[in-house]
Amino acid sequence: MKALILSGGKGTRLRPITHTSAKQLVPVANKPILFYTIEAVREAGITDVGIIVGDTHEEIKAACGDGSQWGVKITYIKQDEPLGLAHAVKIAEDYIAGDTFVMYLGDNLIRDGITDLVERFKEETPNSQILLAHVPNPCSFGVAELDGDRIVRLVEKPKEPKSDLALVGVYMFDSTVFEAVNAIKPSWRGELEITDAIQYLVDTNRRVNAHIIRGWWKDTGKRDDMLEANRIVLEDIETLVEGEVDQQSVIHGRVRIGEGSTVTGSTIRGPAVIGRNCRVVDAYIGPFTSINDNTIIERSEIEHSIILEDCVIEDLQGRMVDSLLGRGVRVTRSDLKPRAYRFMLGDSSDVSVL
Ligand code: DAU
Repeated sequence: MKALILSGGKGTRLRPITHTSAKQLVPVANKPILFYTIEAVREAGITDVGIIVGDTHEEIKAACGDGSQWGVKITYIKQDEPLGLAHAVKIAEDYIAGDTFVMYLGDNLIRDGITDLVERFKEETPNSQILLAHVPNPCSFGVAELDGDRIVRLVEKPKEPKSDLALVGVYMFDSTVFEAVNAIKPSWRGELEITDAIQYLVDTNRRVNAHIIRGWWKDTGKRDDMLEANRIVLEDIETLVEGEVDQQSVIHGRVRIGEGSTVTGSTIRGPAVIGRNCRVVDAYIGPFTSINDNTIIERSEIEHSIILEDCVIEDLQGRMVDSLLGRGVRVTRSDLKPRAYRFMLGDSSDVSVL
């Protein structure tokens, strides 16, 4: 069995972060989401991994390399335009070469992994196995209508959903899916939808098994989803302090602090992670915060946030919460007159002031 991980696409809902980088590489607990995906695939015993890449291919290749860091062999498959999930399957036909495969959307996180699900697919040998989860906002997903166990209809992002069962971004297929992706036409949004390809399999009496998963699952396309994913992953971290924490600092709960980082006169309340070579001075870092490498935080309070590499946060009067900062962001206080806000924000930035 092979894996096909989808890491192309545009990432419009995570702008401005994704103006300059791939959404699958935005970190959760300081680790790119895509790495959790590769780990889950490896954990399930799959070592042949194809990754669909688009405009951000160089960045993804630089991060994942040949896969040897996970003991897998990665093959990159270039998709020139994000023409849909079924299009990504179509261009992977030569790579899959008649094998069965699990298709995993590179921005999805499933806390319990996929090992049991892969086992189930191997035992039951359907043509396809899909995963469903109850969600409060089905309009944002592919939605399944079931009759008992039987799939009646799958609709991509319906305006009036017939159920609250969303398609999770992990699918398993045998090679009949290639007949399906070649038979379907683009949807109203101009994409070849995997949802329509699976509907084709259902309509042509192929065996498509649906399993409802109860564990935690997240499509991390938006900021609040990223923050929630960060919260859930941080709940499982273990304390590991490799940096230096001075006598005046207080560490509560489970906290990871990377090599070369210094914490001075500060309170860190876990679960939280601080990367390598960070400087935290007279600050408060609250629960569910991930601070990536080379970041400086002085005389400021931060909680429930994700801060990427090389940021500087200094002298904030109010506490920063629920925030996602990209690389190299500076949030500081200024003595310049007139006393005013001074911004230099990228396209689609989002600022809420007191
Ligand atoms: O997260 C689950 C949902 O994923 C399902 O419920 C939907 O049925 C399914 O269509 C998909 O919806 P999204 O709108 O969230 O898909 P998105 O465009 O975000 O793409 C998912 C991943 O696939 C993302 O990592 C980008 C990648 N991708 C996307 C497209 C359209 C590609 O690699 N190539 C593409 O052409």
